[in-house]
Amino acid sequence: MIVEGFRIRFSTWRVVIKKTLFFREVFGQNFRMTKHDKPTIFVTRRWPAEAEAALSQHFSPTFNENDTPLSVAEMAAGFASHDAIAPTVSDKIGGDIITAGANGSGRLIANFGVGVNHIDLEAAAAAGIQVSNTPGVLTDATADLALTLILMLTRRAGEGERELRSGSWDGWRPTHMMGRALQGKTLGIIGMGRIGKAVARRAALGFGMDIVFQNRSRVTDDFDYVARQLDDVDSVCRVADIVSLHCAASPQTYHVINSERLAIMKRDSCLINTARGDVVDETALAAALCESRIGGAGLDVFQGEPAIDPVLLSAPNTVLLPHLGSATVETRTAMGMKVVENARAFFAGKSLIDPV
Ligand code: DGY
Repeated sequence: MIVEGFRIRFSTWRVVIKKTLFFREVFGQNFRMTKHDKPTIFVTRRWPAEAEAALSQHFSPTFNENDTPLSVAEMAAGFASHDAIAPTVSDKIGGDIITAGANGSGRLIANFGVGVNHIDLEAAAAAGIQVSNTPGVLTDATADLALTLILMLTRRAGEGERELRSGSWDGWRPTHMMGRALQGKTLGIIGMGRIGKAVARRAALGFGMDIVFQNRSRVTDDFDYVARQLDDVDSVCRVADIVSLHCAASPQTYHVINSERLAIMKRDSCLINTARGDVVDETALAAALCESRIGGAGLDVFQGEPAIDPVLLSAPNTVLLPHLGSATVETRTAMGMKVVENARAFFAGKSLIDPV
């Protein structure tokens, strides 16, 4: 049975679950909260208005009106009672949620984001649930943010702003807060995928940097700047003035930057992470910063975010941002549109555009 013209807007998700169970009792297990017979999508967080409107045009979405993090039980109930779930990087989609979805109406996980390390892909495959993501559309925004971190760190922008706002700036002088130039320095990229290449291009053509990189497979692109592929991560760490991480989080890249690699980095080098918190051993990084074994770190992602390890907060020479890599209206809208395109393809019986 389909209930037409029904749109759920309740103040708490507990009520949603109760309502779902209630309607299932009344209408039976085939109940779907949908209007006009469109497939239903459970959306775990709010999206930019344009993307929500596009989703609503093609689907019957349930939005998380309060935009607060949902519990496992809430996401499990949401997935079980909808045809698809659209989670984000901050939702851990484990086997329990996937099983609940598969045992109910859930058939698709259409992730709002490119990284999928928060989704149990094995459990999804075992349950026959397809997964899509949003590659491509966040490349430029994330590359821009990596450059933001590089510039903030090397030109001491955060430090300078804090000094000015605290009222302790006592005026211009030749030796005041000198940073380091980028021109002629070496940028080392770990993971030369779309974002790694976009960062390399900006750094080479915009800032005159030399580029070296590590990538698990050979990169044969015809770059319009000079970039040298080195054999391994160690080789990049040894020669780079700035090491920027752009690899996906996986068991192979877990703590790819650890105490050994920090030890072989140049003493005044900087580490930039816009990839995932898991790729850096934060305890080792904080120790290296406190003991001046490297020059600084610019981080946009953290292990266990949004909680930040206090040792990192108190470490010197750091710029810390709250996972802003893709945070432009244009990019976040485009990410939502990608979810819509993938879900439309799926429910039209076609292959996913961005299968994971
Ligand atoms: C992603 O899509 O994985 C990004 O981390 C979000 O900014």
